[in-house]
Order: sequence, then C-alpha cells, then structure tokens
Amino acid sequence: MPTINEILNTMDYGPAPESQKEAQAWLEQRSRKFGLFIDNAWTEPGELFASNNPADGSQLAELTQATADDVNRAVEAARRAQPGWQALGGGGRARVLYAIARLMQKHSRLFAVLETLDNGKTIRETRDADLPLVARHFYYHAGWAQLQDEEFAGHRPVGVVGQIVPWNFPLLMLAWKIAPALAAGNTVVFKPAEFTPLTALLFAEICVQAGVPAGVVNIVTGDGRTGEALVKHEGIDKLAFTGSTEVGRLIREATAGSGKKLSLELGGKSPYIVFEDADLDAAVEGLVDSIWFNQGQVCCAGSRLLVQESVEERFLKKLKARMDNLRLGSPLDKSMDIGALVDPIQRQRIHGLVESARAEGCEIYQPQACEIPATGSWFPPTLITGASTSAAVAQAEIFGPVLVAMSFRTPAEAVQLANNTVYGLASCVWTENISLALDVAPAIKAGVVWINTANQFDAACGFGGYKESGYGREGGKEGMYEYLVPVSEDARPAAPVFEKPAKAKAAPAAATDPFAIDRTAKLYIGGKQARPDGAYSRAIHGADGKFIAEVGEGNRKDIRNAVEAAHKATGWTKATAHNRAQVLYYIAENLAARGEEFAARIAAQTGAKNAEKEVQASIERLFYWAAWADKYDGQAHQPPMHGITVALNEAIGVIGIVCPNENPLLGFISLVAPAIAVGNRVVAVPSEAYPLSATDLYQVFDTSDLPGGVVNIVTGSADELARTLASHSDIDAIWRHDGSAAGCAEVEKLSAGSLKRTWTGGAKGRDWFSVTQSAGRTVLQHATQVKNIWIPYGV
Ligand code: NAI
Repeated sequence: MPTINEILNTMDYGPAPESQKEAQAWLEQRSRKFGLFIDNAWTEPGELFASNNPADGSQLAELTQATADDVNRAVEAARRAQPGWQALGGGGRARVLYAIARLMQKHSRLFAVLETLDNGKTIRETRDADLPLVARHFYYHAGWAQLQDEEFAGHRPVGVVGQIVPWNFPLLMLAWKIAPALAAGNTVVFKPAEFTPLTALLFAEICVQAGVPAGVVNIVTGDGRTGEALVKHEGIDKLAFTGSTEVGRLIREATAGSGKKLSLELGGKSPYIVFEDADLDAAVEGLVDSIWFNQGQVCCAGSRLLVQESVEERFLKKLKARMDNLRLGSPLDKSMDIGALVDPIQRQRIHGLVESARAEGCEIYQPQACEIPATGSWFPPTLITGASTSAAVAQAEIFGPVLVAMSFRTPAEAVQLANNTVYGLASCVWTENISLALDVAPAIKAGVVWINTANQFDAACGFGGYKESGYGREGGKEGMYEYLVPVSEDARPAAPVFEKPAKAKAAPAAATDPFAIDRTAKLYIGGKQARPDGAYSRAIHGADGKFIAEVGEGNRKDIRNAVEAAHKATGWTKATAHNRAQVLYYIAENLAARGEEFAARIAAQTGAKNAEKEVQASIERLFYWAAWADKYDGQAHQPPMHGITVALNEAIGVIGIVCPNENPLLGFISLVAPAIAVGNRVVAVPSEAYPLSATDLYQVFDTSDLPGGVVNIVTGSADELARTLASHSDIDAIWRHDGSAAGCAEVEKLSAGSLKRTWTGGAKGRDWFSVTQSAGRTVLQHATQVKNIWIPYGV
C-alpha cells in the first residue's frame, strides 16, 4: 500500500485557466487603440506605443504617448473642473466615490483579468488582493469625503494634482492616489506606467458611469517623457509619485522652488527578521507572501531575510522545501503562485544582479523542478546565501523573486543589520515573544513593521517610507492631509525684506586691548559654547547702526560637529514625552526670569517697539509646545485582518532649521520648540540679521536641564549654512523659513541627495504671533513621521 505522501506526490494540478474572453473582447471593441482621457472624452490616438502581455509577449493594445501639449490640455481641464468639484461638498463627492467603489466591485473580474494580462501577475493575486483593496480604498475615502468638514476643518484641497505610478500594482496604485485626491476635493491628471496602462483606461470608463464630472479625472498615457511634462507643468499644485528612488530624486530636483506639494513612495530593501523562537512554518509562509508575491516586484518586499543563527539551518531547509512547491506558469491559471515579470528588461536586470552574486561566490538556490515557459518573461524563485552585507544583492532593490538570506546572533545585531540600508519602507519581525517583538519594532527605521505577518495593507493604515524610501503617507488620516492645505497658509504675508548684513570680518584682535570684554557670541554645540572653526566672526549692528556684538561665522566644519553632537543625543528621542515637556516648561520659566533683558536685546537689534510682546509670545509658545509634547498621540486602527495597527508619530531624527529674520526670538522658538518637543534633535541657524536673541539662549538652555546636543546653534551666513545642512547626509529633514525664495529652492534641490524631508516657506513670511499660522498639528506633522506597526490581536 502506498503511503498518503506517496499518493500525494504522484498527484499533480490540472490546469485551471481563467477565461480572458471578456477582457479580450473589451480590447477588441476599442480596436486595441487608445487615445487619452481628458475632460471625460477620448482624444484621437496619437503617436503610439504598445503594451504587451508579459506571459507570452503578444501585443494587447496600442496607447498614445501623451505630449507636453496633451498634458497641458489635461491640466487645463482639471483646473476648470476643480472649483465645481470642491463646491460639490464632501457629501456630494462621497456619493460619487461610493458609486466608483460599487462599480469596481461589479466589474472586478474584468479588471482582474485585464490586470493579469497587462502585468503578468497571477489572477489569484489580482482577484483576491488587488481588486478587493481597490474597492476598499474607494469606500474608505468616500467616508473621509463625507466627514471632511468635521474632521479636516480649516483645510482646503490642494487644487490640481499630478499623479505618476509604476507598473507593479497598476490599479491599486491608481486607487491609492485617486481616491484620497478626489475625496479631498482635488482634480487629477494621472499617468499610469507605460508597461501597464490598460486598467487605468478601463477605470476612465467607470468614472463616466459613476458620474464623475468632466475634467475631475484625466488620464494621460506615456513613458517618462510624459511624466516629466507633468512634473514640470506650472499648473500642477501637488505631485504624488510612486516608483524608483532614482526618478523620485529627479522629481524632487525638478520641483524644487516651485511650491508644489510632493509625496514620494520609493524603493525598499525590507528586512524580514526571524528569531529563534518564531513559529518557523508560519514564518516560511509569510516569507512566500513577502518575496514571491507579485514575483517580488513589490516596493515593500521582504527581500532581506535575517534569521537567527541557531535556527538558520532548519529554517532554510524548510524554506527550500517550500520553494520546491511553488508553481510558476500562466498567470491566468488559478493554481499558479508565480507569474511573469512585467518585461524582459526586468528579467535582464534581475539576472545581472543574481549573476553578480554568483561571481562573488554566493550560493544560489533555485528549485530544480521549476520549469520556465519557452516564451514570455520569467524568473524562478531564488535564494541567495553567503552574500556580504555590502554586496550589490544585499543593498540594491532587486525587484524580482530573489531573496538574500543572512544570519544574526543577537536582537541588537538583527536591528543593526535591518537598518543597514539607505531605505526604510517596511519590515517583518517573527517571534513568539511579545516583549522581544515590541522591543525591536521601535528600533527599526521603517514606515511599516509587520509582527508575525507580512504584506498586509488596508486603506485605514498609512503606508510610506523613512529615509530614501520617500516621504508622505498613503492611506489613513495622514494620507488625506497629503491632499489638503491649511487655509491659514493662504493668509501668510510676504516675507519682510532685509538688507544683507555686513560681510564677515576677522574678530577684533584681543591683543590690542587685553582687558576689553570679548563681545563675540560663540556657537553652541553639544551643550557647550564653541569657537567657530574658522576663527572668524561677523559684526552685528543695532537698528540705530551702532555695533552691538560679534557672532561666530560658522562654517562646514562647525555644521559637521553640530550634526555629530545632535546624533549623539539619542537619549532625548528615547526620553519620555513627559520629561521633554518638563524641560520645555523649564526653558519657558528661565526665559521669563530674564524677560526684560531679552526684550531689550530684541529692541536693540530690530528697533521693535513691542519687544516685550515678542518675549511674552515666545514664553507662551514654549508652554504651548510643552503641552503638546505628551499629547501628539498615535492611533490604533482596526483593519479587516485580525489585528490592530498602531500608528505612532515618531521623531524624524536630526532636523536642520534655518530660522526667520523677523521676530528673531519668537521665530526661533516657534520652529525649534516643536521639533524638540516630539523628540528630534536640532541644528539651528538663527536669524542671520538678528542672531543675538538665539545666542542669548545658551545660558537659558544650560540652566534648564536641556541635554547637550539636543539644540545646537550655528550662526553665520544663512545661505552657506543652509547649503551645508541640505547636502549633509546625516540630516534627516531641513526647514527653511527666512523668506529667501532662492535659498528655499536650493535647499529643496540639495535635499534630493539623501531625500531629506523639507519644510520651506519660500518668499512668504508668517505671522509668528498667530497660532493658526505658526503652530498646531501642521507643524507637528512636519516634525514627525508615522510608523504603522501591525500586531496580532484577538486571533
Ligand atoms: P520608474 O521609476 O522609472 O517608473 C515609475 C513611473 O515613473 C512610470 O510611470 C514612469 O513612466 C515614470 N517616470 C519615469 N521617468 C520619469 C521622469 N523623469 N519624470 C516623471 N516620471 C517618470 O521605474 P521603472 O523604470 O519602471 O523601474 C525601474 C526600477 O525601479 C525597478 O526595477 C525597481 O527597482 C524600481 N521600482 C520601484 C518601484 C516601487 O514601488 N518602489 C516601482 C517601480 C519601479
């Protein structure tokens, strides 16, 4: 008698093909040629490019390569439609979004098959993952539209939004972009990826059926040139991009100084950490989802397996056995696990990276039995072991079904390896020990942490990266803010014009008068006063033209020292919010004790008649941010999976802040206090014109228990210091609010290097006395990034 296993081994899967008849008929009815969707009408097809089925190379349809003129027409249509769409109100927009959601559900099979044909991903995924999430996104955001007046009071839509998506989740990324944009009252010009435009065009037809007014959704097809035209178009108020880090950087540079709002969801190299006490079988299944879902063409793919040394051998054995059972083949076959890669060019890229690892002596495991179809674009599931941490396969986003495995001994080493990447999109932690999981989760620098699960998504839970994985969130309440602007921004005044202060000059030689009081304010680095590296200083004259004092002329080296000191002050980020609040209260009290002196200093520098008012407002602002320090709590979402998603507002890290010239004390405190209240460390460049109000704070800080390195102050040329801060790779964010339009543009451009978050004021000033303009949640949003931690709960 054969054993049950022997019987099972002789059994094989029969083919279970999904019919493509309806999808092919849909293409045929449109003569397999498409124009652009502008103002709810189709343009005549123009210069054409093909979209192919990656599973067999056959041509599915021809699409129009939209020109800059076409993009312009789409932007104009969106601009015309925007006021009406906004005026429809949240309730009216909700009804349209509900209608879209219902129609997506009704036609979900057609969408799923069309997506599989165009992209090569399996029907199992498009049917069971992509489409349900698409519908959920429209339902969820219909809800936000409904509640907009109540939940987003004081905000207005951004206006016209340009949206560019990649080919890995064509329809899902469309939903992630279009649903929140429309809910908030924006109109959109949307560009699908050139490899996978078809479901976006079917979606255009759904928009018409759902009653989306003309011009609200415009869809332009084309490659990077069309994307570039959209990015550079002056009529766009915000750009939302998902794609490679390389193009993300180009977009950041191209939009620098334009005032366009920007969100970037870029690449990843996400760690998948398996501790020795994990449920290893469950962790293997999670890994299958993590790296072989969509052939590994997933920005948050768990592409770096970090497994504890004590279970490494056992785990890899189980993993290889599971890999041997993965089925690769026709994506329309319902029993396939792995479909086709989107294009032969991706296959070549992946092949090149795997071969580089082989040449470096790594071991490459691919299941023997995995047959590769003769035509189309395929790559077998692959496991690489023996790679060094600096190998290309361990650092680069492979974007294919290739897993790189490494081992670690201790949790600390796991965290260190996990964070050893320029990216920070997602991560997985597998352990049965809740204390260990919740100890490791905050230490991982990534926007998402999945505990004992993988690749979970929901519209209610924000998604987006840390570090070079980009910024901004999609989904959740934080995702809605990406498409809104506080109305108080519209009331901002023009920045006051300041005459450039006198050029830096050498400090007066002390030797000429050894008893003269040295009136040179030093820099403040690591909690100590420090002489500027260059030993130069600049004279500060008062409103009456008289010399008041000198301040140090900080340079590149001083900024380096300040950044280093800020990085060392990690204790501040780990301190309790209560403790941070205490320090801020203490600073406020100590400032109040010296209020008159500070007022006199402001008056001497600026000639202000109401200097006491500025000091009082500064003290109040400190109390205000102390109050917020322990109240900017996160949220616990309850997504459809059996768990909770804890969304925490984490500090960004080290922020470079170029302070405004006007209100030298209040402006400085209004920016530095919120940043440190939520746990950041700061390198601040005070008002270039009136820096003494900041340098006078050294003693206040020293007597207020502010740990050294939390606030570092470097005086000197705002332009030069901003440039250095913006190009420094260890600065996580840069804020510039000194009214210099050119300076802000430069900072934004330079920030592209390491994809720092930016908050710049451009040529506008701010009423620093006004809480609505200079405080509130908007400031806190700039000072934090949301981490979503998915935790099993009630399962
Ligand atoms: P890509 O970043 O070039 O393309 C994404 C989108 O941007 C497409 O719609 C494309 O037409 C558009 N685009 C390209 N150049 C542009 C420009 N200069 N201005 C504006 N839009 C532009 O990604 P690609 O070439 O398709 O894939 C290359 C690699 O990028 C992949 O192998 C993968 O490593 C990574 N990638 C990462 C994604 C993610 O979700 N993190 C998604 C797609 C690609």
